[in-house]
Amino acid sequence: MKAWGGRFKGDTDPLMERFSASINFDWVLFEYDIEGSKAHAEMLQKIGILSRKEKDDIVSALDEIKKEIQEGKFLFSNALEDIHMHIEARLIEKTGDAGKKLHTGRSRNDQVSLDMRMFLKEELTSIDENLCKLLKNLIEKAEKEKRTIMPGYTHMQRAQVITFAHYLMAYYYMLKRDRERIKDVRKWVDVLPLGSGALAGSTIPLDREFVRETLGFSKVSENSMDAVSDRDFVLDAIFGIAMIMMHLSRFSEDVIIFSTEEFSFLSLPDELCTGSSLMPHKKNPDALELIRGKTSRVIGDLFSIFSLLKALPMTYNRDLQEDKEPLFHAVHTVKDAISIMELCVKGMLINKEKMEKAVYDSYMPAVEMAEYLTIKGVPFREAHGVVGRLVKGCEESGKWLLDMKIEDMKAYSQVFEHDIFDTINPYNVLSNRKTTGAASFEGVDREIDTEKIYLSH
Ligand code: ARG
Repeated sequence: MKAWGGRFKGDTDPLMERFSASINFDWVLFEYDIEGSKAHAEMLQKIGILSRKEKDDIVSALDEIKKEIQEGKFLFSNALEDIHMHIEARLIEKTGDAGKKLHTGRSRNDQVSLDMRMFLKEELTSIDENLCKLLKNLIEKAEKEKRTIMPGYTHMQRAQVITFAHYLMAYYYMLKRDRERIKDVRKWVDVLPLGSGALAGSTIPLDREFVRETLGFSKVSENSMDAVSDRDFVLDAIFGIAMIMMHLSRFSEDVIIFSTEEFSFLSLPDELCTGSSLMPHKKNPDALELIRGKTSRVIGDLFSIFSLLKALPMTYNRDLQEDKEPLFHAVHTVKDAISIMELCVKGMLINKEKMEKAVYDSYMPAVEMAEYLTIKGVPFREAHGVVGRLVKGCEESGKWLLDMKIEDMKAYSQVFEHDIFDTINPYNVLSNRKTTGAASFEGVDREIDTEKIYLSH
């Protein structure tokens, strides 16, 4: 007979049992469910519902159950629906009447929210740790490539000279924001829903403050209906995760392009690539392609929860059971994706010569040429026109800007003098940029130093 079977006449249809069971995915919550139940039992003893012996029996039986599940000895069955029912049923088998008292003042509605919040508190901490490791790797790589110059792109066209360190630091700052966001989300998650009951609280004087303290939550929820129907914290978490995935996906896309034979700016570690079953020469960047591909599914996870919630009437509805798979998927995917990216950053080999050659074989110094004329008093729009014509001339004669002679330049403007060559030398450009946040040697060195301090605590 079901735990809730009192008011039912017939048995549940087997199809319904299979359709409604969540045990094949929510079993992963078992440790949280058990921790929550132990705290609830301690509290029930404190308020006189359980005797000390009953409480002790419950706590040691719960520990045994935890061991059974960990050791793969626990039998799961669709008939018992979810992890909460499985643990309670086994507890009653082991402790009889004491076990039957455990659910006093509690509903699966506040219980499941508790488990999800405990799960997320732990997982968000490990996402944060993984992010921190990746950030450290980015800094280390950036430090090694402080003087490695390369083209920066807009519209995938060579635009202005940058350093590879400046490029890496762009991703560093995105992921640092992500880390701060994850920490913020953790604050929203860190609220105890237990004690809200099914939706309206209880006439039993549950000591919620005691449970909060025991389980290490920062706050107790303030409204019982909100507490059982709210999954904003799930949405917040998946949003934070989807943002990380989106950043990793963009990074992957860049690195895939940079690793092509056409670019040859870098090569990827063999450990993250695969070969072709037909073409013997292939080395494919599958790990990064999978980050890109899996990002779609995580964005899908976010959409799933949004649409799950948007028309849900108050308070708990069984629809909410569908929050778990998207959340678990997003959490597991992002943790692996961050670690894969860490291996990638660590293992990638940079081809400095190729990057430098792409800087020299370009029209990128055009910006500094126009700025040179501007500083010498030519209005910027006019300077822009002069250099534009000069680039066109170069293109027609098959030259790069850095191959030009002073006479060639003077044909476009008499303002050009010999010092133009110093001005447009890419290394000088990177020494001369002065604006905050600019791609400059000194600026990036400073960023790296500051961020090393941020990462050290
Ligand atoms: N397995 C359910 C879930 O994940 C637990 C809550 C069930 N509550 C209920 N009233 N049927 O949402």
